[in-house]
Amino acid sequence: MTTPKIAVLFYSTYGTNYAVAQEAKTAAEQAGAEVRLVKIPETAPQDVIDGQEGWKAQQDRVAEIPEVTHDDVIWADGIFLAAPTRFGGQPSQVRAWIDTLGPLWGEGKLINKTVTATTSAQNPNGGVEQTLMNFYNAAVHWGAIPIYPGFTNAVKFEDGGNPYGFSKPAGDLTEVHSRSIAHQSKRLVELTAKIIA
Ligand SMILES: Cc1cc2nc3c(=O)[nH]c(=O)nc-3n(C[C@H](O)[C@H](O)[C@H](O)COP(=O)(O)O)c2cc1C
Repeated sequence: MTTPKIAVLFYSTYGTNYAVAQEAKTAAEQAGAEVRLVKIPETAPQDVIDGQEGWKAQQDRVAEIPEVTHDDVIWADGIFLAAPTRFGGQPSQVRAWIDTLGPLWGEGKLINKTVTATTSAQNPNGGVEQTLMNFYNAAVHWGAIPIYPGFTNAVKFEDGGNPYGFSKPAGDLTEVHSRSIAHQSKRLVELTAKIIA
């Protein structure tokens, strides 16, 4: 098997999606992938971040993790995205990053990359499916290949059952959450391996 290269991208204000990304990285490596864990750049003013203890703490926690570059995207065969739901859609930080990809799109460098997405929200039905579809919508324009979890594993009947991608209320991960993230990450690796074979 050609080793699939997976970029695990995350944006996380308070830590939930960082934890999801860490689980996804571990599972992808266990499934045989080479993995880069990279963060989507913050765009909020530093004084706003400093004004919230939880936000500042998360910024400090991920200070040593590199920001995603275009080289990471070109390198990757597949992308795993973990990012929160904001007002029923993607955070502006994620959207701003997506909007830097125009040149890669123009050169056809996003074609046939696999993508999968996860999210969190305060409320179980706080707009999570819309957030995931926002990302897949962009992926369609790239000619990328969305990989949904669907109900491809029994864990999807335990984790809240979002077939578009794992989603959870903000906060700590449970054992079921970890299994669901691992399933989605492994599925991304396995299908990516078939595509690049
Ligand atoms: C500006 C803003 C908008 C938000 N909008 C929603 C929303 O539409 N629905 C919802 O359930 N939660 C909403 N939330 C809660 C976030 O989804 C929650 O903080 C996030 O999932 C936590 O992820 P993180 O720990 O990775 O930052 C919002 C939070 C903020 C700060």
